[in-house]
Amino acid sequence: STPTTHFLSPQKPSSPFTFTIKLLAYNRLSSLSRCLHSLSSAHYYGDTVDLHIFIDHFPNSSSSDLGRNLENSHEILGFVDGFKWVFGKKLIHYRTINVGLQAQWLEAWWPSHDDEFVFVVEDDLEVSPLYYKLIKGLILNYYYNHSNFSPWIFGASLQRPRSCTLAPGKHGNKIKLDSETRFFLYPLVGTWGQLLFPRPWKEFRLWYDDHKAKGIKPVLDGMVTTGWYKKLGEKIWTPWFIKFIHSRGYFNIYTNFLHERALSVSHRDPGVNYGKTAGPDSQLLDESSHDINLLDMQSLSDLHWYDFCFRRVLPGRVAKKLSEVSHILHTMEKQKPVLLVSLLKSSQTIVKNLICHFERLNIQNYIFMVPNSESDLLHDLPRRGHPVIVTEDVFDSITRSKKSSSILIKETMVKAFVIKKCLESGFDNWVIASNMLPLISNPQFDFTDSSFYVGKDSRLLVVRSSSSSREVWDERFVQKFAATVETLISQDSLLKENGNFVDILEKFAENHVLRLKSVNDVNYSFKLERVHGNQSLPTNTKMISWSPEMDIDSVHKYLEELGLWIIDSDSSCKAVVCHQS
Ligand SMILES: *[C@@H]1O[C@H](CO)[C@@H](O)[C@H](O)[C@H]1NC(C)=O
Ligand SMILES: *[C@@H]1O[C@H](CO)[C@@H](O)[C@H](O)[C@H]1NC(C)=O
Ligand SMILES: *[C@@H]1O[C@H](CO)[C@@H](O)[C@H](O)[C@H]1NC(C)=O
Ligand SMILES: *[C@@H]1O[C@H](CO)[C@@H](O)[C@H](O)[C@H]1NC(C)=O
Repeated sequence: STPTTHFLSPQKPSSPFTFTIKLLAYNRLSSLSRCLHSLSSAHYYGDTVDLHIFIDHFPNSSSSDLGRNLENSHEILGFVDGFKWVFGKKLIHYRTINVGLQAQWLEAWWPSHDDEFVFVVEDDLEVSPLYYKLIKGLILNYYYNHSNFSPWIFGASLQRPRSCTLAPGKHGNKIKLDSETRFFLYPLVGTWGQLLFPRPWKEFRLWYDDHKAKGIKPVLDGMVTTGWYKKLGEKIWTPWFIKFIHSRGYFNIYTNFLHERALSVSHRDPGVNYGKTAGPDSQLLDESSHDINLLDMQSLSDLHWYDFCFRRVLPGRVAKKLSEVSHILHTMEKQKPVLLVSLLKSSQTIVKNLICHFERLNIQNYIFMVPNSESDLLHDLPRRGHPVIVTEDVFDSITRSKKSSSILIKETMVKAFVIKKCLESGFDNWVIASNMLPLISNPQFDFTDSSFYVGKDSRLLVVRSSSSSREVWDERFVQKFAATVETLISQDSLLKENGNFVDILEKFAENHVLRLKSVNDVNYSFKLERVHGNQSLPTNTKMISWSPEMDIDSVHKYLEELGLWIIDSDSSCKAVVCHQS
């Protein structure tokens, strides 16, 4: 069991942060009143809590409605004026025009420092008296405790987790959590009681500004919110935030209090979101819920991360030693090949595009090889759940020689060792580079009589795991290969230049027992250089490749023409594609 953390002991004098409630209201007095009463019935443990109420104006109305609308507004203003808030300052912002939910949310806050937190509630919410106890615990445990802090977490949602924002037909896995799980990480923002952390929110505001000004729309295919956006446009804000979160790879903390309980519930009163009242979405957790200890918070490393499709994300898979490659292989799906992808000469955008294809094709078994610890990709890929081998570090862990070899030589040697690891773990291995793009999830050559296949055209290497391949590709083999690589490459200027693993391996095989089976894959693989205008791909194309020398702009242009450039101007996938697991 996990250690229990108790923060709210009376010894802790004052909070290291400020906390403000941002209440977004409109024309629903009874909702607003219910919401305010629940907020003022909560326990604040002597902390100062300010309350900001934003009241949107009614839109232009016909003269017949005008009197009623004015009266309603004045009633609401009278109510909030008279409402006693004893925990801090109360501030009322009454708008002069109808701005809608987008501006209500976005203009509610501009963080002025990193110790400022807000909790945004719409007026049809009701919160538990214990909601602040949890929020304070979350802030202290996941923001101020260094060992549990992640800059990729943008806040916490107090609503019950639901996965209704994915388009029908493309919906991912049902939210499945065991009864022990109290907290987990999931990208979606919850609009029913959302705690926001200052930095990501400020970043979002700047991102929104940039995209709005340039006329870029928050379109993310596969999400229901994209449909909402097409219908409601700038009335709503969630499509913008979701697009931002998706592009940055940020996460939200969610609670799992079982039995449809939560610390914040929406009564789903009629308004922008609901045509008619839909009733509360869950039960409020309160003091009588003795089975839940709100402050029993696990360390961040023990929490589970999920993507939009509610599939596990495994951040932090980085191998700096050969033995750590085995740890990565343990997390891979059995029965499927492992794609070993060299990123020696790749650009960020090409890699991002490749990752989107992996997502689309449901390819999960892949490992990227980055040159060294300085590689920019090393900071982005593992945190988003993409496993990475740091080539120079793994090289150092294998050879104790202090010889300064080129990165190409190091990578070539490390690949031989990693392939051996894959074979030992029972995985077939596909060795590709970022100048290749698989178009099907498990490209099949007509395997018959060998374990080592080379695509004549694509320069893809396939190593099948079998007792005979493990016998050939053994420790002696990799040691011999490693000892020969340097000479092979230095003797051949072509190898030195193109650095293709298959070319080097073929050269090695000439003088050794390795029998590579050359497969004529010219009908399966397609060279990007051959694209002309509107040409479409032959139907059975399984792999696209291009010369490593081809410039990025041409690669981008050709892939775009083929409909295979599936990232947007932020280099993030244009769509969320879910697969049943
Ligand atoms: C509301 O009325 C004002 C003044 O009559 C007008 O300028 C504005 O365009 C109207 N807005 C809408 C949304 O109809
Ligand atoms: C910070 O978190 C770690 C890991 O969960 C925990 O061991 C430690 O006690 C926490 N520190 C404080 C001051 O609560
Ligand atoms: C490629 O396909 C064409 C047309 O089907 C066929 O004639 C040719 O023999 C094939 N080439 C190879 C190498 O399989
Ligand atoms: C590509 O297709 C478009 C529309 O079908 C056509 O207008 C254009 O001329 C074509 N371009 C080439 C190079 O064939």
